[in-house]
Amino acid sequence: MLSSPRLAFRRFVPADLDLLHQSIYRHPKVAETLSPTGELTIRNTEYILYRRLKHWYEHGFGAWALLYRDNQALVGHCGLHYLDDYPEVELTYTIHPDYWGQGLATEAAQVVLHWGFETLQLSQIVAVSGPDNHASQRVLQKLGMQYEKQIRYNGTEVNYYALTRSQYRQMQATGTIDSIDRSNEK
Ligand SMILES: CC(C)(COP(=O)(O)OP(=O)(O)OC[C@H]1O[C@@H](n2cnc3c(N)ncnc32)[C@H](O)[C@@H]1OP(=O)(O)O)[C@@H](O)C(=O)NCCC(=O)NCCS
Repeated sequence: MLSSPRLAFRRFVPADLDLLHQSIYRHPKVAETLSPTGELTIRNTEYILYRRLKHWYEHGFGAWALLYRDNQALVGHCGLHYLDDYPEVELTYTIHPDYWGQGLATEAAQVVLHWGFETLQLSQIVAVSGPDNHASQRVLQKLGMQYEKQIRYNGTEVNYYALTRSQYRQMQATGTIDSIDRSNEK
Protein backbone atom coordinates (compact mmCIF):
# COMPACT_ATOMS: atom_id res chain seq x y z
CA MET A 1 0.00 0.00 0.00
CA LEU A 2 1.32 3.48 -0.91
CA SER A 3 0.75 6.68 1.02
CA SER A 4 1.71 10.34 1.05
CA PRO A 5 1.17 13.15 3.57
CA ARG A 6 -2.27 14.17 2.27
CA LEU A 7 -3.35 11.11 0.31
CA ALA A 8 -4.21 7.49 1.01
CA PHE A 9 -3.83 5.10 -1.92
CA ARG A 10 -6.05 2.07 -2.36
CA ARG A 11 -6.88 -0.42 -5.12
CA PHE A 12 -10.02 0.21 -7.16
CA VAL A 13 -12.89 -2.29 -6.86
CA PRO A 14 -15.84 -2.85 -9.24
CA ALA A 15 -18.19 -1.21 -6.73
CA ASP A 16 -16.34 2.11 -7.26
CA LEU A 17 -18.14 2.73 -10.56
CA ASP A 18 -20.81 5.20 -9.39
CA LEU A 19 -18.46 6.91 -6.95
CA LEU A 20 -15.78 7.28 -9.61
CA HIS A 21 -18.23 8.65 -12.14
CA GLN A 22 -19.97 11.07 -9.77
CA SER A 23 -16.78 12.16 -8.05
CA ILE A 24 -14.43 12.53 -11.01
CA TYR A 25 -15.41 11.79 -14.61
CA ARG A 26 -18.83 13.46 -14.67
CA HIS A 27 -17.19 16.78 -13.86
CA PRO A 28 -17.16 18.96 -17.02
CA LYS A 29 -13.62 20.22 -16.40
CA VAL A 30 -12.29 16.67 -16.27
CA ALA A 31 -14.37 15.49 -19.22
CA GLU A 32 -13.35 18.42 -21.43
CA THR A 33 -9.68 17.54 -20.90
CA LEU A 34 -9.97 13.79 -21.34
CA SER A 35 -12.72 13.35 -23.94
CA PRO A 36 -12.82 14.70 -27.52
CA THR A 37 -16.59 15.17 -27.09
CA GLY A 38 -16.14 17.06 -23.81
CA GLU A 39 -18.33 14.53 -22.04
CA LEU A 40 -17.77 11.24 -20.26
CA THR A 41 -20.79 9.00 -19.76
CA ILE A 42 -21.23 6.36 -17.08
CA ARG A 43 -20.39 3.80 -19.80
CA ASN A 44 -17.09 5.62 -20.48
CA THR A 45 -16.30 5.51 -16.76
CA GLU A 46 -17.23 1.83 -16.66
CA TYR A 47 -14.74 1.15 -19.45
CA ILE A 48 -12.02 3.17 -17.69
CA LEU A 49 -12.61 1.24 -14.46
CA TYR A 50 -12.75 -2.11 -16.28
CA ARG A 51 -9.41 -1.41 -17.92
CA ARG A 52 -7.85 -0.43 -14.59
CA LEU A 53 -9.04 -3.61 -12.88
CA LYS A 54 -7.94 -5.74 -15.85
CA HIS A 55 -4.48 -4.12 -15.87
CA TRP A 56 -3.92 -4.91 -12.21
CA TYR A 57 -5.09 -8.48 -12.79
CA GLU A 58 -2.86 -9.03 -15.83
CA HIS A 59 0.28 -7.15 -14.78
CA GLY A 60 0.23 -6.89 -10.97
CA PHE A 61 0.38 -3.11 -11.03
CA GLY A 62 -1.84 -0.29 -12.24
CA ALA A 63 -3.66 2.85 -11.15
CA TRP A 64 -4.50 3.61 -7.52
CA ALA A 65 -7.55 5.38 -6.17
CA LEU A 66 -6.55 8.50 -4.22
CA LEU A 67 -8.42 9.38 -1.02
CA TYR A 68 -7.95 12.79 0.57
CA ARG A 69 -6.95 11.97 4.14
CA ASP A 70 -8.80 14.89 5.76
CA ASN A 71 -12.27 13.83 4.57
CA GLN A 72 -11.72 10.43 2.92
CA ALA A 73 -13.14 11.80 -0.38
CA LEU A 74 -12.14 10.07 -3.61
CA VAL A 75 -10.17 12.87 -5.27
CA GLY A 76 -8.60 11.09 -8.22
CA HIS A 77 -6.25 8.39 -9.37
CA CYS A 78 -2.55 7.99 -9.99
CA GLY A 79 -0.57 5.00 -11.14
CA LEU A 80 1.28 3.16 -13.85
CA HIS A 81 0.03 1.21 -16.84
CA TYR A 82 1.18 0.07 -20.26
CA LEU A 83 0.50 2.54 -23.04
CA ASP A 84 -1.93 1.18 -25.63
CA ASP A 85 0.06 -0.49 -28.45
CA TYR A 86 3.44 0.50 -26.93
CA PRO A 87 5.77 -1.48 -24.65
CA GLU A 88 6.33 1.50 -22.36
CA VAL A 89 4.83 2.00 -18.91
CA GLU A 90 3.02 5.31 -18.51
CA LEU A 91 2.50 7.49 -15.47
CA THR A 92 -1.19 8.45 -15.27
CA TYR A 93 -3.13 10.80 -12.98
CA THR A 94 -6.29 12.84 -12.63
CA ILE A 95 -7.42 15.03 -9.72
CA HIS A 96 -10.90 16.39 -8.98
CA PRO A 97 -11.08 20.11 -9.97
CA ASP A 98 -11.98 21.19 -6.42
CA TYR A 99 -8.52 20.01 -5.40
CA TRP A 100 -6.50 21.41 -8.33
CA GLY A 101 -3.51 23.64 -7.73
CA GLN A 102 -2.62 22.23 -4.30
CA GLY A 103 0.19 20.01 -5.49
CA LEU A 104 -1.78 16.79 -5.09
CA ALA A 105 -1.05 15.35 -8.55
CA THR A 106 2.65 16.03 -8.01
CA GLU A 107 2.54 14.54 -4.50
CA ALA A 108 0.82 11.38 -5.73
CA ALA A 109 3.05 11.03 -8.78
CA GLN A 110 6.24 11.33 -6.73
CA VAL A 111 5.11 8.34 -4.66
CA VAL A 112 4.16 6.41 -7.79
CA LEU A 113 7.49 7.10 -9.50
CA HIS A 114 9.32 5.81 -6.43
CA TRP A 115 7.11 2.71 -6.45
CA GLY A 116 7.74 2.19 -10.16
CA PHE A 117 11.49 2.53 -10.05
CA GLU A 118 12.35 1.09 -6.64
CA THR A 119 9.65 -1.54 -6.02
CA LEU A 120 8.62 -2.58 -9.53
CA GLN A 121 12.20 -2.02 -10.76
CA LEU A 122 11.10 -0.41 -14.04
CA SER A 123 13.99 0.92 -16.09
CA GLN A 124 11.94 3.76 -17.61
CA ILE A 125 8.59 5.47 -17.05
CA VAL A 126 6.98 7.61 -19.74
CA ALA A 127 4.07 10.05 -19.82
CA VAL A 128 1.91 11.51 -22.57
CA SER A 129 0.03 14.77 -22.41
CA GLY A 130 -2.09 16.76 -24.84
CA PRO A 131 -0.06 19.74 -26.13
CA ASP A 132 -2.63 22.12 -24.59
CA ASN A 133 -2.73 20.41 -21.21
CA HIS A 134 -0.39 22.87 -19.53
CA ALA A 135 -1.26 21.81 -15.99
CA SER A 136 -0.31 18.22 -16.74
CA GLN A 137 2.89 19.32 -18.49
CA ARG A 138 3.79 21.40 -15.45
CA VAL A 139 3.29 18.37 -13.22
CA LEU A 140 5.64 16.37 -15.45
CA GLN A 141 8.22 19.15 -15.33
CA LYS A 142 8.04 19.25 -11.53
CA LEU A 143 8.64 15.51 -11.49
CA GLY A 144 11.74 15.90 -13.65
CA MET A 145 10.32 14.05 -16.63
CA GLN A 146 12.00 14.94 -19.91
CA TYR A 147 10.11 15.97 -23.04
CA GLU A 148 11.32 13.79 -25.93
CA LYS A 149 8.98 14.08 -28.91
CA GLN A 150 5.45 14.21 -30.19
CA ILE A 151 3.73 10.94 -31.01
CA ARG A 152 0.37 10.03 -32.43
CA TYR A 153 -1.52 8.24 -29.66
CA ASN A 154 -5.13 7.08 -29.82
CA GLY A 155 -5.72 9.32 -32.83
CA THR A 156 -4.24 12.56 -31.48
CA GLU A 157 -0.84 14.22 -31.33
CA VAL A 158 0.54 14.18 -27.79
CA ASN A 159 3.74 15.25 -26.07
CA TYR A 160 5.82 12.28 -24.95
CA TYR A 161 8.00 12.49 -21.83
CA ALA A 162 10.32 9.93 -20.28
CA LEU A 163 12.42 9.39 -17.18
CA THR A 164 14.90 6.56 -16.71
CA ARG A 165 15.66 4.92 -13.39
CA SER A 166 19.21 6.23 -13.48
CA GLN A 167 17.97 9.80 -14.09
CA TYR A 168 15.49 9.32 -11.26
CA ARG A 169 18.17 8.08 -8.88
CA GLN A 170 20.46 10.92 -9.85
CA MET A 171 17.70 13.41 -9.04
CA GLN A 172 17.08 11.71 -5.70
CA ALA A 173 20.78 11.73 -4.87
CA THR A 174 21.32 15.38 -5.77
CA GLY A 175 17.90 16.65 -4.69
CA THR A 176 17.56 18.49 -7.99
CA ILE A 177 15.88 18.09 -11.34
CA ASP A 178 18.26 20.57 -13.00
CA SER A 179 20.18 17.78 -14.71
CA ILE A 180 17.23 17.30 -17.07
CA ASP A 181 17.70 19.00 -20.46
CA ARG A 182 14.55 20.98 -21.38
CA SER A 183 15.90 22.76 -24.44
CA ASN A 184 13.73 20.81 -26.89
CA GLU A 185 10.48 21.06 -24.90
CA LYS A 186 7.42 22.20 -26.91
C1 LIG B 1 -3.38 17.74 -14.61
C2 LIG B 1 -3.91 17.62 -13.18
C3 LIG B 1 -3.85 16.16 -12.75
C4 LIG B 1 -3.06 18.47 -12.25
O1 LIG B 1 -3.51 18.25 -10.91
P1 LIG B 1 -3.09 19.23 -9.71
O2 LIG B 1 -3.27 18.49 -8.44
O3 LIG B 1 -3.75 20.54 -9.86
O4 LIG B 1 -1.51 19.41 -10.03
P2 LIG B 1 -0.41 20.12 -9.10
O5 LIG B 1 -1.11 21.06 -8.18
O6 LIG B 1 0.47 19.09 -8.54
O7 LIG B 1 0.44 20.94 -10.19
C5 LIG B 1 -0.22 21.69 -11.20
C6 LIG B 1 0.74 22.71 -11.76
O8 LIG B 1 0.24 23.18 -13.01
C7 LIG B 1 0.15 24.59 -12.97
N1 LIG B 1 -0.93 24.96 -13.85
C8 LIG B 1 -2.25 24.81 -13.68
N2 LIG B 1 -2.92 25.26 -14.74
C9 LIG B 1 -1.99 25.71 -15.61
C10 LIG B 1 -2.04 26.29 -16.91
N3 LIG B 1 -3.21 26.49 -17.51
N4 LIG B 1 -0.89 26.64 -17.51
C11 LIG B 1 0.31 26.43 -16.91
N5 LIG B 1 0.42 25.86 -15.68
C12 LIG B 1 -0.72 25.52 -15.05
C13 LIG B 1 -0.07 24.91 -11.52
O9 LIG B 1 0.23 26.27 -11.23
C14 LIG B 1 0.91 23.93 -10.89
O10 LIG B 1 2.26 24.34 -11.04
P3 LIG B 1 3.07 25.11 -9.84
O11 LIG B 1 3.09 24.15 -8.68
O12 LIG B 1 4.40 25.37 -10.43
O13 LIG B 1 2.28 26.35 -9.50
C15 LIG B 1 -5.39 18.12 -13.11
O14 LIG B 1 -5.45 19.40 -13.66
C16 LIG B 1 -6.38 17.20 -13.82
O15 LIG B 1 -6.82 16.21 -13.26
N6 LIG B 1 -6.74 17.55 -15.06
C17 LIG B 1 -7.74 16.80 -15.82
C18 LIG B 1 -7.25 15.39 -16.17
C19 LIG B 1 -5.88 15.39 -16.78
O16 LIG B 1 -5.51 16.31 -17.50
N7 LIG B 1 -5.11 14.34 -16.49
C20 LIG B 1 -3.78 14.18 -17.05
C21 LIG B 1 -3.87 13.62 -18.41
S1 LIG B 1 -2.29 13.67 -19.21
